[in-house]
Amino acid sequence: MCGIVGYVGPNADDKALGVVMEGLARLEYRGYDSAGVALVADGEVVGDKKAGKLENLRAALEARDLPPSATAIGHTRWATHGGPTDANAHPHRGGTDNKLAVVHNGIIENFHALKNELLEQGVEFRSETDTEVSAHLVARAFEEAGDLTEAMRQVVNRLEGAFTLLAVHADAPDTVVAARRNSPLVVGLGEGENFLGSDVAAFIGYTRNALELAQDQIVTITPTSHEVINFDGSPAEGKAYEVTWDAAAAEKGGYDTFMEKEIHDQPHAVRDTLLGRTDETGRLVLDELRISEEQLSGINRIYVVACGTAAYAGMTAKYAIEHWTRIPVEVSLAHEFRYCDPIVDERTLVVSISQSGETMDTLMAVKHANELGALTISICNTHGSTIPRESDAVLYTHAGPEIAVASTKAFVAQITACYVLGLYLSQLRGKQYADDAKNVMAELAEIPEKIETLLGSMDRVAEIARFMADSRAVLFLGRNVGYPIALEGALKLKELAYIHAEGFAAGELKHGPIALIEPGQPVFVIVPGPDTPHDLHKKVVSNIQEIRARGARTLVIAEEGDEDVVAFADEVIRVPQAPPLLEPLLTVIPLQVFALHLATAKGLDVDQPRNLAKSVTVE
Ligand code: M6R
Repeated sequence: MCGIVGYVGPNADDKALGVVMEGLARLEYRGYDSAGVALVADGEVVGDKKAGKLENLRAALEARDLPPSATAIGHTRWATHGGPTDANAHPHRGGTDNKLAVVHNGIIENFHALKNELLEQGVEFRSETDTEVSAHLVARAFEEAGDLTEAMRQVVNRLEGAFTLLAVHADAPDTVVAARRNSPLVVGLGEGENFLGSDVAAFIGYTRNALELAQDQIVTITPTSHEVINFDGSPAEGKAYEVTWDAAAAEKGGYDTFMEKEIHDQPHAVRDTLLGRTDETGRLVLDELRISEEQLSGINRIYVVACGTAAYAGMTAKYAIEHWTRIPVEVSLAHEFRYCDPIVDERTLVVSISQSGETMDTLMAVKHANELGALTISICNTHGSTIPRESDAVLYTHAGPEIAVASTKAFVAQITACYVLGLYLSQLRGKQYADDAKNVMAELAEIPEKIETLLGSMDRVAEIARFMADSRAVLFLGRNVGYPIALEGALKLKELAYIHAEGFAAGELKHGPIALIEPGQPVFVIVPGPDTPHDLHKKVVSNIQEIRARGARTLVIAEEGDEDVVAFADEVIRVPQAPPLLEPLLTVIPLQVFALHLATAKGLDVDQPRNLAKSVTVE
C-alpha cells in the first residue's frame, strides 16, 4: 500500500531521479493511483506528481528540464484520504518557499486535529490527504530546529496511526530522513550512496546490503553514512542483512506479465521452501524457529491468522495439521481475530501467514496474540518485514519476490511451509502420525516436478478462458482441501477479471446455492482423487451430476486416470496424481491460469488490477 523510495548519492553522479524512478517502477505493485518525485537541486526542491500510473509521471518529467540532482524521494500511491488526483499525489510540500517535501505510506489517524491546529495558524492546505499535515509540521519544526532529523523526531512523536515518512529539505541537500511506525521501511547500503525503500525491490539493482529498522525509529542517510535513532532520541542500530535474490528475480524474465512469470516460478517456490528442512536421518529440523521444542510440545490449540489468499493457504493447512498433530486448528481472518475475543493463552500457537509480512490486519492480530500470551510464528516471504519481527519465530517461504498483485507462488509456498510446520509439530509430539513425516516430506519433494508437468499442459485451460471472456458469473466447488482451493479460484477471478465468482463447499450446494444454477452457468469442480478417504470422490462426482442435471456447464479438475468424471464433465482438466492432502498444490494451478487468461482476453492489467494494492498496510 504505497511505495516509497529515497536516494542520496555523490553530487557528481546526478543519478537521483533515475534511481528513484527505477525504484518506483519496481514498487508500483504496491499502489498505482498516482506517483510523484521530489529532487533537491540548486538550493530548492523541484519535482512533479501525476494522477494515474507511473507512466503519466514519466511523461510529465520527460517534458520538463529538471536540474541535476543527487538527492531524491519518490512515491507511488494507493489512495486512502483523498481521491487519486494530481493534488493528492505525493510528495507534499511545506515551509517557506516549499523547501520541504515528504512522502508517506500509512494513515495519520489524528490528522484532523493537527490540520485544524495548522489551519488556525493560517496554513493553507493544497490537498485532501492526511499526509499534508506532516509536511507542514516537519517544515515548521525544521525552521526552528535547523536540523531535519530533529524536526522529524519532534513531529513523529505527535502522530498517531501507522506511517513511514521520508523527508528532504532544500537546506539539507545531501540528506534524506525517514521514520517508521507500523509501516515498512528498509535501508539499502551502497558504496558512497544510500537508499530507502518500502522493500528491497526499490534498490535491488544497486545493492544487496540492507538494514532492517525496528518500530518507532528514524534513520538519516547521507551518501556516506546512515544513523538510526529511536523516537525518544536515543541512539539505535538497525539489523544488517544480505538480500538473497538479485534484480533478475524481480523482472518479468521473458513473460508478458509478472503474474505469468510467477505462476511458472511455482515449482521453485515449493522446492526452495522445502530446502534444508531435514537432517541426514530425515528428521525435520527447523533451525529458524526461535521457540524451544519444549514450549512447542506443550501447545494445545493453534490459531491461523491471515487475509485473502494467505488465509486460504491457512484453511488448506488446517486439514493437514489437524490430521498430523491432532491439535485443533482454527483459521481466523486476521481482521476478525482481535474482535472475536479469541480463546488464547500461553499454550496457544498463533501462526500468521503473510507474503509481504506487512499486512496491517495480520500484524495487529499478531500483536494481539502476543498481548494475550500466545506463542507466535510467522510464515512469511519477505525478509526484514514487520510481522516476522513482531513474532516469536519465523518460518520463511522461499518463493522469491512476488510482484503481481494477485498472489500465486506465495500461496503454494505458504501451504508448503504450513505443512512442514505441521509435520514438525507431529514429530515433536511423537503422536500417531510422527513416523509418517518422512514419507510426506518425500511426497512433497515430488510436487515441484508435478507442477512443472501440469504447467506444460495448460493450453486448453487458456483456450477455455478466452472462450469464456464474456461470462458474467463463475462458480467454484470443492470439498475438504478442495474447498479453500474453490475459494482461491473464485478470488483470483474476481480480482483479475472483475467477474462475479464464488467458491462453495460442494456439500453446501444443496443447502441453498444450487438455486444459482441455470442453463449454461459455468461451474469449476475440484474433484478429490479416488483414494480420498470417506468416499469423498464419489460424493463430489454426485455433486457434479446434480448441477449438470440443472444445466450447469461443468469444468472438472480431476486426477490423471480418474475416468468416473468423464461422463459428467463438459471439460476435464487433468492434474497429476498426488496424495489427497497435497492435491491443493496442483489443483490451484489451472485456476490461476484460467483467471490470468480470462483477464488478459478482456484486455485487463493482470499485474495491477483496479482498486487493489499488493501490500495492504492500512486496517
Ligand atoms: O501479503 P499478504 O500475504 O499478507 O497479503 C494478504 C492478502 O492481501 C493477499 O493474499 C491478497 O488477497 C491477494 N491480492 C490475493 O491474490
